[in-house]
This record gives sequence, C-alpha cells and structure tokens, in this order.
Amino acid sequence: MTHTHFWWQTGVLYQVYPRSFLDSNGDGVGDIAGITSKLDYLRWLGVDAVWLSPIYPSPMADFGYDISNYIDIHPLFGTLQDLDILVQQAHQRDLKVILDFVPNHTSDEHPWFQQARSSRTHEKRDWYIWRDPAPGGGPPNNWTSLFGGPAWQFDEQTGQYYLHLFDAKQADLNWRNPQVRKAMYDVLHFWLDRGIDGFRIDVIWLLLKDEQFRDNGVNPGWKQGDDPSTYQDGRYTEDQPGIYEIVRDMRAIVDSYSERVLIGEIYLPVERLMRYYGEALDGAHLPFNFQFVTMPTWEARTIRQVVDTYEAALPQGAWPNWVLGNHDKQRIATRVGREQARLAQMLLLTLRGTPTCYYGDEIGMQNVRIPHAQLQDPKAKGNPEQSRDYERTPMQWNALANAGFTDPEVRPWLPVADDYQTYNVEAEQHDPRSMLMLVHALLEHRRTSPALTIGSYQSVDQENSNCFVYMRQHNDQRCVVALNVSPQDQVVRLPGLGQGSLVLSTQMDRVGLLDLSEFHLRKNEGCLIALMVAT
Ligand code: GLC
Repeated sequence: MTHTHFWWQTGVLYQVYPRSFLDSNGDGVGDIAGITSKLDYLRWLGVDAVWLSPIYPSPMADFGYDISNYIDIHPLFGTLQDLDILVQQAHQRDLKVILDFVPNHTSDEHPWFQQARSSRTHEKRDWYIWRDPAPGGGPPNNWTSLFGGPAWQFDEQTGQYYLHLFDAKQADLNWRNPQVRKAMYDVLHFWLDRGIDGFRIDVIWLLLKDEQFRDNGVNPGWKQGDDPSTYQDGRYTEDQPGIYEIVRDMRAIVDSYSERVLIGEIYLPVERLMRYYGEALDGAHLPFNFQFVTMPTWEARTIRQVVDTYEAALPQGAWPNWVLGNHDKQRIATRVGREQARLAQMLLLTLRGTPTCYYGDEIGMQNVRIPHAQLQDPKAKGNPEQSRDYERTPMQWNALANAGFTDPEVRPWLPVADDYQTYNVEAEQHDPRSMLMLVHALLEHRRTSPALTIGSYQSVDQENSNCFVYMRQHNDQRCVVALNVSPQDQVVRLPGLGQGSLVLSTQMDRVGLLDLSEFHLRKNEGCLIALMVAT
C-alpha cells in the first residue's frame, strides 16, 4: 500500500514535551530514559514517529528553546548515549525520532554569544545582530519581542544593543553571515549522522530580518493582556525575502540522507505558508499547518472552510498536514471541551495528510490551572494569562500519586492535573469507550485504510450547517466522515450514497448499517462510515 509514499506521509507524528513525559530518575523533570520506557505505549497507541521538544544543554530560560550547545544533551534529560539508546529502541519498533532544531537564536550562555559580546571586534561579533542605540538613545527601532517588551537588549560593555525576538536570554543569530549558516548546517549533519530521522525547525519563518531595520507596524486592535506576539504586524521581522533559500539549503542536507523529514514551524496565512513547500517542492516536506489552532471559532462551517481553503491552496504534489495543538497553545480539550475534543481527534486522524498529536491529548488532558506564583514560562512574566505552562503539565499515566509521572514523594516541575485519577492511560485502557481507546481505534482504522492514509479528500455539500461531512477515497475504497459540531442531535441527509457501514462512532457504542439518505448524529458525535463498494 505504501511503497509510493514516504513514512512521513502515511504515518502519524506524536509530539513529546520531554520535561513532562516521564521522569525516570526522580528529579521531578521528565527525561530521555523515561521516553524510551514508553516506546511500547506509543507503538501500542499506533503512532509512527516521535518529535522531541529540545533536549540540548540549556539554561532553561525558555525550557530548552535557549540552547547553549547544539551537539550534546542536557544532563537533566540524560546523555548522548541515552539518546542513541532511544533511537535504537525506537527503530527496533519501527518508530522514527525527530528532533527540534532551534536555529533562530542561541542562549546568551552559548560560547558563540559569549565570544560575540566580548568585544566589537571579535570575529564572532557578526554572528549575532548588534546595532547602535537610536540617535537620541534607546533601542535602534520599534521591534518588540514575541514574549513582550522591546526586542533589543543593551550590552553595557560594548555599548550596543543585540536583537532577541524572544527572551533576552535568546539572542538572535545573524543568518546573513555565511559562517552562521555553515555552523548550523554542521549541526544538522551531526544529528543526521547519528541516525535522527528528521527535524522540526523552530520559528523557521523568522530567521531573516529586514536589512534596513525598518519599524514594524503596530496592530491597532491590540490591547494590554493580549498575546504579545500579535502586538506588531512583523512585516520586517517575519517571512523576509531570502528565507526560502535557507529552507532549501536545509532540505538539501536532509535529502542527502535517505528518508528523513524536514518540518517547519510557521505561523502565516495559508497562501504565504504554502511558499515554504518551495517552488519546486524543494522546501519543507511539511510546513506545519496551524489553521485549526489559530481559527477563531469551532463551528462546522469554519472547519469546512479551513480544510477546503487549505486543500485548494496546496501546490501540486505537496503533502498536507494537520495539527490540533502543541506546547505553545491551549490544549484542544480546553479550547473546544472534552466532548468536541473526541470529534476533533476524528477530524485530525481522518483528514488527508500527516497528523501531529500532542502528548496527553489522546487521554483528553486539559489545561491545568496553576497558581501564578508557580508559573515558569518566560512568556508569563507580568502576564500570567499568556503562560504556556498550563498545557505543559506532566503526562498522566495512572492513578497513583503524581499520576505515575514521577516518584510519589517527588514534586514534579509543574503540578499534575487534579482530575488525573479519571484521565490517565491505565484507567482509559480499561474503559472501552474512553478517549484513549477512541484515538487507538482511529489510528488503527487509519493505518489499515488506504482511503484514509493516501486517498483523496472531498467535502460533501449537505443542508445541515451544524455538521461537516467529507469523503475520502482510494480506488474503489470510499469512506465518509460525518461530524456533528454542535451540542444538539442532528439529522444528515446524503441522498444517492445508498447504505454505509458505520465503522466507528466517537461515542464508541454503535456500529452497523446506516441508510445514508437520512441518518442521525447525536450531540457532539462523529462517525466514520465505510461506503459499500458499487457492484
Ligand atoms: C517556538 C517554540 C516556542 C519557543 C519559541 C522560541 O515558537 O515552539 O516554545 O518559545 O519558538 O524558541
């Protein structure tokens, strides 16, 4: 079935936030050995690749997204040898391992930055972005950090500002300097040579900045308390000319090894996002599609519009992908509620293209309320509502103290959800109708159905505006997905399709034949229906 497609097309990706997955050594923080011990769970669940958020040495100002050495492992997480074991054990189970690569900025504690800040004439000075103060003093221009406040930090010793689009401890590299490119490309080779199956590239659309350092526009509707990353329009700090060349370079490196994948983190409107596939499909294999994460409302009409617009905008031959959430965004079960979250999983796992699942979403984890004094995310400084800690809490494995994430007497780095005794892997594995068993069943259907893995996608017109219906087809195998995106029962009419076999309901309590000319969907129910082969 799959010989015409690559693993990253037919497979399902699973994001692990390593600090929060499993703590194997009792320090309250998850680690690589913890992940390795759960590979059998991931294989049982039915995903195909694990993407690890950063595990490199880091002062943890942004929990690993501030890297002080790109080619080693933070002792909190383990050693290079632990990673080798993880990769080897994963490969034995036919699972791939994808690393997070953070090329836009280094930690201010990285030796490169230490050297660069040591004097204006140091050969590494130009590896970062330094500017003189504005003529009357103060920052060189109006650029703000995506975490809030100015994007410029004054360096007393050398009398210049350096740029940081995120925290002041995350200094932006100068990607116009060829030595920087070379150093970062060497890092890619280092991990590819070690057997890593690909990369998720952090903020790839921010790597280049305007050469003239012109001011960004300010969004007029923005108010205090809103997400600081939307304060400015980013016209001179995002998606700048020349960026595709860098993406192409990275792709060429990845392609010089067999069957590796390049994924880009990109928050842009659909038309601009598509350019990251590259003109000759020589850019990212999968520019992350965050349309479900950024869409304003969760309604049948909007979901259909998002999917159809995205499908229509895809360049010829480009492979789609879908994301419901990640370590930067509210959990899906919090955004849409636990009932709709089941339907969202059906959507994610039956659309055309590669899905990425965020750890814990498969058991219905929600954002966890954390006392403000315990917040750790740099984005939360002075703005607790913007904290991303809420969606990064420990994975819930069982009903024991600390949900089995760490030893019972240890304090985990972030608090465990109050409802972990109900929502955890072990309990849900014993409940045939749990969210986990739903995701498990969806993954199994997906894996064994060419219509779902490689088939075409077509939305289906029907009169009920509370429902979203689409068809997936490969050769003579066809299936329909009907989703009731409302808290009321609904009737769907699909005349002309004859009978279908209800394979899976999100409520997991019914299967059997359905007359598609008129059928009922209960509130919040989604159904996967196989169509009878025409004889
Ligand atoms: C990306 C990461 C986010 C991080 C930021 C800076 O958006 O997903 O967690 O804070 O980049 O590296």
